[in-house]
Amino acid sequence: MISNIKYMAGVKSIKDIDIAGKRVLIRVDFNVPMDEHQNISDDRRIKMALPTINYCIDNNACSITLITHLGRPKGRYSKKYSLKPIQKRLERLLHRKVEFIENFEESKDEIATCSLERVFLLENIRFYEGEEKNSEELSKKLASICDVYVNDAFGTAHRKHASTYGITKFMKTKVAGFLMIKEIEAFSKALENPTPPIALVLGGAKISSKITLLSEIIPKIDKLIIGGAMSNTFLEALGYDMKSSFYEKDYIGVAKKVIEDLKKYKVNIYLPFDAVTTNSIENPTDVRVVPIQDIEDNFSAVDIGPATLKLFSEAVHLSNTIIWNGPMGIYEVNRFSRGTNRLATAIVDSYAYTIVGGGDTADAVERAGERENFSFISTGGGASLKILEGKVLAGFERLDRKS
Ligand code: ADP
Ligand code: 3PG
Ligand code: MG
Repeated sequence: MISNIKYMAGVKSIKDIDIAGKRVLIRVDFNVPMDEHQNISDDRRIKMALPTINYCIDNNACSITLITHLGRPKGRYSKKYSLKPIQKRLERLLHRKVEFIENFEESKDEIATCSLERVFLLENIRFYEGEEKNSEELSKKLASICDVYVNDAFGTAHRKHASTYGITKFMKTKVAGFLMIKEIEAFSKALENPTPPIALVLGGAKISSKITLLSEIIPKIDKLIIGGAMSNTFLEALGYDMKSSFYEKDYIGVAKKVIEDLKKYKVNIYLPFDAVTTNSIENPTDVRVVPIQDIEDNFSAVDIGPATLKLFSEAVHLSNTIIWNGPMGIYEVNRFSRGTNRLATAIVDSYAYTIVGGGDTADAVERAGERENFSFISTGGGASLKILEGKVLAGFERLDRKS
């Protein structure tokens, strides 16, 4: 299962190069869960990048420039996705000033000025259209503001974007940060000889980018347990009318193909047969637990129901390796978090080797009070699924290699 992981483990890390006096640019993944008031609800992804940032400070980098995305602003400025709240949290965690750069091209000279005390944070890189398009123009511009490129954005390492991939074409020195290395080592240990039965628990809302990875994953697992908005798409594919529930219409065909593949490889599939439904997510005045076929018009499924929770708990209990990405419902809202919370407990009570991945799933595990009880928590959701798929992540592809 792990030839791709072995390849990724062969990249150079920041420890293998000399950074003294250099302008270091670090691509981090500070795409953290936030509430409706832009409060950070889980800063784990920021904390996990601190060793790399501190290493640069301690080893006399000339300046440190951090780049991250937040959410999916689609190439345009949006206050909701500004990194201002992240700057504040980072200052608190680093115990030093972090300078906010609204426009990195205008601040190019400032970044170039050598001063050991300076840490810069660029505004959300996805405000640039060129980021997700992996534009050569943006990649070149980013490369021009640094001497050394460090990728430490494990959570975004499966994306071929300008700041995670394109930039490497224009950099002489490009290495991995400590988080990237730590994640790869942990996956290597976990997936070298996983004990069957292997269960993949899949949920959350990023349907299109995750469902397409399943065809390569299915032959490697024994059970697929699906909840969250992901399951709404599968239930639609099976002919249920999910009414106002969130699902992706364009991926119903892919869901049908996944169901065929599961049959072919004799992988058991577990889907919800009851759900917590509501007339409104923001203002739920009517919340009903119903069988899937009885969802009322204008209601949406926002959590797995109690009967489904029993089935899923039983299914994970009979597994020896469990990989989980994606909450079972809108876990941010207390009323719709029970399925996710209780499944988290069922997973850790199973005695299996338990891996959890994803910004929101890690947050959900924390809220459920089960963080300490998982074998391994990855910062990557889509990225960890891509590893299971057997692929080399784009963020590792063009980094310098050890020999
Ligand atoms: P991760 O960050 O762990 O990779 P995702 O980003 O794919 O997970 O999904 C997390 C999001 O999915 C959460 O914001 C949650 O509210 C949402 N979600 C889960 N179930 C549903 C549902 N039934 N309807 C709408 N959104 C859902
Ligand atoms: C994530 O949260 O999975 C990563 O930050 C990547 O975000 P994306 O799916 O919007 O590319
Ligand atoms: Mg997420």
